[in-house]
Amino acid sequence: MRKKIIAANWKMYKTIKDAENFLREFLSLSNNYTEKEVVICPPFTSLFLVREYIKDTPYKLGAQNLFWEKEGAYTGEISPIMLRDLGCEYVIIGHSERRQYFGEDDEIVNKKLKSAFDNGLIPILCIGEKWEEREKGKTNDIIIKQINGALEGLDKENVKKLVIAYEPVWAIGTGHSARGEDANEVASLIREIIEKKYSGVVAQEIRIQYGGSVNPKNISEFLSQPEIDGALVGGASLNPQTFWEIVRI
Ligand code: PGA
Repeated sequence: MRKKIIAANWKMYKTIKDAENFLREFLSLSNNYTEKEVVICPPFTSLFLVREYIKDTPYKLGAQNLFWEKEGAYTGEISPIMLRDLGCEYVIIGHSERRQYFGEDDEIVNKKLKSAFDNGLIPILCIGEKWEEREKGKTNDIIIKQINGALEGLDKENVKKLVIAYEPVWAIGTGHSARGEDANEVASLIREIIEKKYSGVVAQEIRIQYGGSVNPKNISEFLSQPEIDGALVGGASLNPQTFWEIVRI
């Protein structure tokens, strides 16, 4: 049985004070909840603080990005070793905002995934089609291309630990989520691709999240789908009550 995994992607929101306020409330509401895995991915500047708050709880820490080298003259970058040092267990890789605004392509995503695995981090790999691509019936082609590019050269021992977040780009931050069945169809396709590349066992082990305008009203539509094992939540993860609702439901 795959354990459900709900991750909060705070993006570039929250000062240290804001993060502290969130945690006080979320921790008291959620009371060491263990039925699903809960991962909080704050901006780099709040990682240390969030770690301090959650270190004696079941909740896990995740980063939103990394640079693939271990260390070196790379001004402004953060390495996987530094993320481990801060207590991160997860790292979001290839988010559509990174692809759109920071030029991340499948080759860069692949380097980041390898580096995450090599350094003991579990990647949450984000993939998804744009609206024009869906309209032209290209969703499956895009998903196949993104997965093949991202997983190039990765072995099955690593891949089975992977979390894949299917996030249709047009659903992110728009208030227009995908339909549960459509997201489930893409999740099935993802398992088929993984089965062909690796094995049926690996395909059954990886966890697949849906992301894109998830909220307390629509979360059950996604979690009730057989192939969907959780959610990557942006906007609705910023408020502790709303995020707790999503986790609980
Ligand atoms: P959203 O973002 O929930 O605000 O749509 C999801 C994401 O970008 O991971």
